[in-house]
Amino acid sequence: MKRLEGRVALVTGGLRGIGIATVERLLEEGAEVIIADLKAPDDADVQATLKQLGQASSYIQLNVTDEAQWEAAAASVRRDFGRLDILVNNAGIDGIGPVETMPFETWRRVMSVNSDALFLATKHCTILMSETGKKTRGGASIVNISSIMGLVGWIEASPYNASKGAARLFTKATALEFARKGMGIRVNSVHPGFVRTPLLQEGFDRAAELNTASTAQELLSTLDQMTPLGRVAEPSEIAATIAFLASDDASYMTGSELVVDGGWTAQ
Ligand SMILES: NC(=O)c1ccc[n+]([C@@H]2O[C@H](COP(=O)([O-])OP(=O)(O)OC[C@H]3O[C@@H](n4cnc5c(N)ncnc54)[C@H](O)[C@@H]3O)[C@@H](O)[C@H]2O)c1
Repeated sequence: MKRLEGRVALVTGGLRGIGIATVERLLEEGAEVIIADLKAPDDADVQATLKQLGQASSYIQLNVTDEAQWEAAAASVRRDFGRLDILVNNAGIDGIGPVETMPFETWRRVMSVNSDALFLATKHCTILMSETGKKTRGGASIVNISSIMGLVGWIEASPYNASKGAARLFTKATALEFARKGMGIRVNSVHPGFVRTPLLQEGFDRAAELNTASTAQELLSTLDQMTPLGRVAEPSEIAATIAFLASDDASYMTGSELVVDGGWTAQ
């Protein structure tokens, strides 16, 4: 069943990890999907990705922390598609280290990508999404990718925890605002546990460098063992949840948080 036929989606950070898995899933479900990421449109990776994904995919270069770029992106979506049904705010970065030695710049960078960008995206996409959402049964859908680290703390991850906690409550604030004003936009957050992506791998590599006792492979096995389901997630398992929230199957869901963590936070 193609739940998203006729719908237009924009996925930030859509070139790899959870982002590209989400793009693939939304395309499978019939949507036209705009990938937004940092690389230039003529970059070889971008060209190869678009070729592989096919005609329903397109690309815009967008640094999610830049307000002028969001304004331009929203205008180009209006011009090229005339609608925006689904916005997946997925782009994110980590930032680890003890709070007492962490450069303020690291804190600011993580907050900027993981939290400020949700404000900018929502601010500039809301008018088009509201026009679109009022015409569909389930309304337009914003899916903000938080984390289990937006629900519980983690050692030496203070900016990541804070930024993902902000994503969770920004979701609830905008969900209420849009629902009460009848704007036709639902807003929900997704809270993945540990997911096998380049971000996780790079985090392991950095941790292994700092701690010679553990290799990245040992760290992965430890996480597998610490997870009740016995393994970290595949990106496609997060993408499936995002596609559900994006679809009319979730027409009565707004302001909610879906935890996809293999049981991690149930412990
Ligand atoms: N991997 C995990 O274990 C995990 C767990 C919970 C939540 N998450 C969250 O899921 C999201 C995706 O994570 P991932 O693991 O796929 O990451 P990833 O690093 O593999 O991919 C992130 C993508 O975002 C893009 N990006 C980064 N900064 C950007 C910016 N300023 N503007 C535009 N694009 C930008 C990158 O270029 C990259 O393509 C993030 O928000 C992350 O915090 C990941």
